[in-house]
Amino acid sequence: MWYDLPGMNAHRRFALLLGWIACLSLAHAQVMPRQVRLSFGDSPTNSIRIMWQTDQATDTLVEYGETPALGSIAYGQQVTYSLQTGILHEATLTNLQPDTLYYYRVGDPQNGFSPIYTFRTAPVYPRPFLFTAFGDHGTRSVSRQNTQNVINLNPDFHLHLGDLSYANGVQTVWDTYLDQVEPLTRQIPMMITLGNHEWEDEVGIGYEAAIARFAMPGENTYNVNYMFDYGNVRFIAFNSDWYQRANSVVRNEMQQWLQNRLAEARANPCVRWLIVFQHHPLFGSVARRGYNQFLIDRLQPLFDQYKVDLVLQGHDHIYERTYPLRNSTPVSTATGEYLQGEGTIYITCGGGGVGLYTFGTMPPTTAYRESTYCYLVISLQPGGSLTVEARRVDNSLIEHFSILPTFNADLNRDGCVDDNDLLAVLFDFGATGNCMATDINGDGFVSDDDLLLVLFSFGGGC
Ligand SMILES: [Fe+2]
Ligand SMILES: [Fe+2]
Repeated sequence: MWYDLPGMNAHRRFALLLGWIACLSLAHAQVMPRQVRLSFGDSPTNSIRIMWQTDQATDTLVEYGETPALGSIAYGQQVTYSLQTGILHEATLTNLQPDTLYYYRVGDPQNGFSPIYTFRTAPVYPRPFLFTAFGDHGTRSVSRQNTQNVINLNPDFHLHLGDLSYANGVQTVWDTYLDQVEPLTRQIPMMITLGNHEWEDEVGIGYEAAIARFAMPGENTYNVNYMFDYGNVRFIAFNSDWYQRANSVVRNEMQQWLQNRLAEARANPCVRWLIVFQHHPLFGSVARRGYNQFLIDRLQPLFDQYKVDLVLQGHDHIYERTYPLRNSTPVSTATGEYLQGEGTIYITCGGGGVGLYTFGTMPPTTAYRESTYCYLVISLQPGGSLTVEARRVDNSLIEHFSILPTFNADLNRDGCVDDNDLLAVLFDFGATGNCMATDINGDGFVSDDDLLLVLFSFGGGC
């Protein structure tokens, strides 16, 4: 054995031993899972997707459970794309319990597991929740600071409004980015929409890298268009970048897809709020581009028709927010409080961490704007308001506003709030659950509050 070699003194033996240990730990490090990230599966109440990367081939295994003892396992599969920088792993956990904290780790027994992390599934019954959003992130120190802001808040999930890593063809930048955001993504599901910087034309791979590295719910419809429900809110992710690049046939199909999703949402009594997120703003006033009339002409009629509550956007590296709009016109010029349904509010928070833009002339649609790094904190109370706080990267408040819910006590939609509606509420009084028609305010209970809403509007419209 090497330690018996003649002429090898104690010092050399010790040095050799250290080298051997270093080699072992290096081999181990090369296969340790990194860039661990979460997104919701097809139903956030019972499924989650987990992605990670290793530098060399390993199995794709998740151990998980409701305690740190874990106890359940799920196998996933590798994902590939032409310029990948490592082995990409992806696994989906299904049949989870709603509103439950899970512990998990990824890796395999031969090569090692990640530390144990946690995530929480979405609730079935309405409860208050909070999510964050920004776009245009990058890998600068201010980008890291914004990541930390989200981690500090510990939201139920984070929406990324596109332009993630700014790899622009250099695939190792994805590794830098995904390592950097891992403290967020390993514990907070991150739901993305694709921006123009995800289209890596520089190396001829289009969206390949982003699609391979981020698994979102459903099929890969028109390059990452999808929807998910959280509580009584429906979120629709729309790839505004592909919508503008695609030919007119595909664009029309995407338009129809979006219209169908919006119509479904508004026909579903469980959906009380409707939020679209996409990379490109419709309305904006940065000096370099201003309004996107192409998107205004095509998307605004849909957002108006289906009374989308909020459209969240990136792309312009600033904070800018419109008044509630219909047909490009403010329907209220209040500053702090609006009524649900009166208009669609468009928020651009593309100040996620890359270089800021300057503004041109302020248009009448803009309620507030500031060239600053930003993140959005959006909270919902079942049966109550949707509240938006826009914050600078140093956590100071840019502005905040609320949308007050409007309720329809005409339960049978016969144009009259009368005995029939009153009886329906009384009949269900005390019931609990999700999406009951008689739970008029959507707080999960048929109670005094719903009864009062009927009594207040009694006779209305008759
Ligand atoms: Fe950007
Ligand atoms: Fe962009």
